Formats: sequence, C-alpha cells, structure tokens
Amino acid sequence: MIPPRATFPEGFVFGAATAAYQIEGARFGGAGPSHWDTFAATPGNVVRAEDGSTACDHYHRWAEDLDLVKAAGFDAYRFSTSWARVMPDGVTVNPAGLDFYDRLVDGMGERGLRPFLTLYHWDLPAALADLGGWRNRDTCARFADFAETVLQRIGDRVETVATINEPWCVAWLSHFFGAHAPGLRDIRAAARAMHHILLAHGLAMERMRGMGQKNLGIVLNFDHATPASDSPADLAAAARQDAIFNRWFIEAITQHSYPPEALEGLAPHLPAGWQDDMPLIGQPIDWLGGNYYTRHIHAAAPGTPWPATREMPGPLPKTQMGWEIYPQGLQGFLTRLSRDHVGDLPIYVTENGMANADLPDLPDAARTSFIAGHFGAAQAAIAAGCNLKGFFYWSLLDNYEWAEGYEKRFGLVHVDFDSLARTPKASYHALARALARN
Ligand code: FCB
Repeated sequence: MIPPRATFPEGFVFGAATAAYQIEGARFGGAGPSHWDTFAATPGNVVRAEDGSTACDHYHRWAEDLDLVKAAGFDAYRFSTSWARVMPDGVTVNPAGLDFYDRLVDGMGERGLRPFLTLYHWDLPAALADLGGWRNRDTCARFADFAETVLQRIGDRVETVATINEPWCVAWLSHFFGAHAPGLRDIRAAARAMHHILLAHGLAMERMRGMGQKNLGIVLNFDHATPASDSPADLAAAARQDAIFNRWFIEAITQHSYPPEALEGLAPHLPAGWQDDMPLIGQPIDWLGGNYYTRHIHAAAPGTPWPATREMPGPLPKTQMGWEIYPQGLQGFLTRLSRDHVGDLPIYVTENGMANADLPDLPDAARTSFIAGHFGAAQAAIAAGCNLKGFFYWSLLDNYEWAEGYEKRFGLVHVDFDSLARTPKASYHALARALARN
C-alpha cells in the first residue's frame, strides 16, 4: 500500500512532473525547432525516429491535464518552459509562447495547484545549437536572457524556479555518450558542457535574484554508484563514476570546486579560466531538487581511455527501461545530500517513477508498489534527519521518452498516441487514495 499523506510531515508537498518537449507538441504555437527535433530527424538516434512534434498535444489539452493533476489529489505541478517555444531562434520572443505559459500558470492557480517551474528541460533552440550549443560560452548568457523573459511574464505566480533539469544528462549523456541531443561523443565537448551548464545556472540565478525572484534552485539527478566488487580497481571505478554523476554539480554549487576524481580526466578539456566562474556557479540556492530512478554497477575497464569503467548488469527486478528497482538508493542519496552537501536546505524529490508496458485496463500493480517502496524510502530519509519537503512523481502522462520514443510508459495516466485519449491507470487511483485528505 502507498503510505498515506497523513504519515508524512505536515505540509509535505505531493506533485506530478512533466517537461515541455515530452508532452506539449513542438509544432504548435509558433515554437522554433530545437536540437531534439534535429536529433530525432537523424536516423539511428531515436527509436523509430519518433519526435515531440505532437507528443501528448498538451499545448491544446492542458486544461484537461491540469484537471487530472488536481483530481489525483496532488498539491503541486512541476512543468518546464520550452526555450524554443518562448524564443524560436533562441533570442527573439514569440508572444504566443509566453501566452501559453501564462494560461498554464493561471490554470494551476484556478485549481489551487502550486506551480514548480523548471526553465530548461533540454529543448535548446536549434539556432543556438548551430552556434555550438552548450560547448559555446555565449549560450549561458542567452539562457539568462531567456530566464528573465519567462519570469517577467509568469514569475509573480510560480512558487519555485529551477534553472536546469539534470545537468549530467545535458552534458555527459548528450556529449560523451551521445545518447541525447546533440548526440556528440567527444570528451572535450562533454567537459565544456559540464562547466557551461553550471555557468548558465549561475548567470540565471544572478539575473533572477536581481529581479527579486524567490525560491530559486536547480534539479540534479543522482544514482547509487555501486562497485562491481570489493577489488581496489572496481572501487576506484565506482568512485570515478560517482564523482562524474553524483558529485560534480552539487560540489560546484556548495563547495565551489569539482571533485578530483573527475578533474583527473576532465581538467585538460575545461575552458581556460574556468576557476574564475566558480563563485558565480556557487552562489547560494534556496532549495535543491533531486531526481532518482536507479543504481548503476561499475567495474574497472583497464586498457580503455579515462574514465576506464564499464557498467555491469544487476540482479534486481527491472523496469521497462531495464533499470533496477532499488528504493534504498533514494534513501541513501537523500541522507548523503543532507549529511555531506546541503545540511538543512529544503530538498524535493523532483522526479521518481517507473516505465511499465501497461495498458489502461491492466492492474498496474508494479507501478503502485514502486511508488510505495520509494515513498517508504523518502520517509526513512526524513526519519534520519533529511529536510525533505516534497515528492513529485514522474510522470503525469505517458509521454515522449527522449531517445526511447513513445514506447516507454512512465505515466500515471495512459495516453493513446493515436487518439490522444487520456485514461488514468490503477496506480493513479491508488495514489489518489493515498493523497486524499480525510
Ligand atoms: C529523467 C528526465 C525526464 C524523464 C525521466 C524518465 O532523466 O528528467 O525527462 O525522461 O528521466
């Protein structure tokens, strides 16, 4: 059973999360092309070469979708603004784009839903990608302009603002593994993106503070980096991956430094003078968002270039993504964050969920028990002293799962991608029962 609302601290925030490109429909409302459109149009990058041009047509069906958030008993809705919708060429404002987000936050207000805004969830305007995207330092300044433009319009009605969603994915997954747009496999590009995405965060923070905007933070992803064995080589391999994935971004923000285990491979490729940016990157945040899905098992890969690691398959039950189900990792990273990095700063789980190949009429029991396990892990972290303030389920709807296309279904609500009909799953109803106020 999913632990009910009453078993969480008073005022704990429950929400559902989505992201613009994954649900809105990028061809509507005068949005410009983003690097996800071009990435998807290149054969071999995305399953069946699917893209977000229609997605869930949330651009037109947003009111129905907010009704679904409300009817589940959620308090809050985490959404993102598409840069390519607001500024189709990366700099020039599209009034229809701002109008859309204006309607959306008003729609949340009308339903008593608290808006948790993420400014950048990966839809970089293609025009900026042409200029080098996150390899180019200028993109950081353009991002601060975008932040200002969005908040001038809706900043008075959003409860929190996150600058960036999952910088590791923006930088490493997209520029080293090549799995996401722009699909590069280049350590120098990756190192530059690892730094520039943080610089973009810092410049936007400074700009938003100057505007008087409150409740500013960032959303980082964390996993549990498990060594494949107790051998010194595997322990060191897991430590390198832990530094790249779990420590690089949070230590930059809280300690103004990068972890030595990651710098050993990345320092030669960072932009000259990167140290001078660290005070700006490390300015105080008001809250931290953490996304958690699984653990990864790392072994040493001697004879291969840095970081000289390889990922090993694990024995635990897996989701439709092939990700091991490991709620203990959520508890682990939350307590580690409080203990080692942010102390009493408010933390939110801004994403957690599972993909399951479910149809609307199936019992959907796996997702319900996944939620129960991870709510339990969050409660254990709170009991251990973590200042956890809320939990957002990923995702409200089945949606465009990036390089996996539409096949991987994370939604509490089933979406038929032909008719676009929405059907709440059994897990939606189970969660609604847990969230009901008696
Ligand atoms: C996270 C992303 C989100 C979604 C989930 C499954 O890394 O932030 O957009 O794709 O994974």
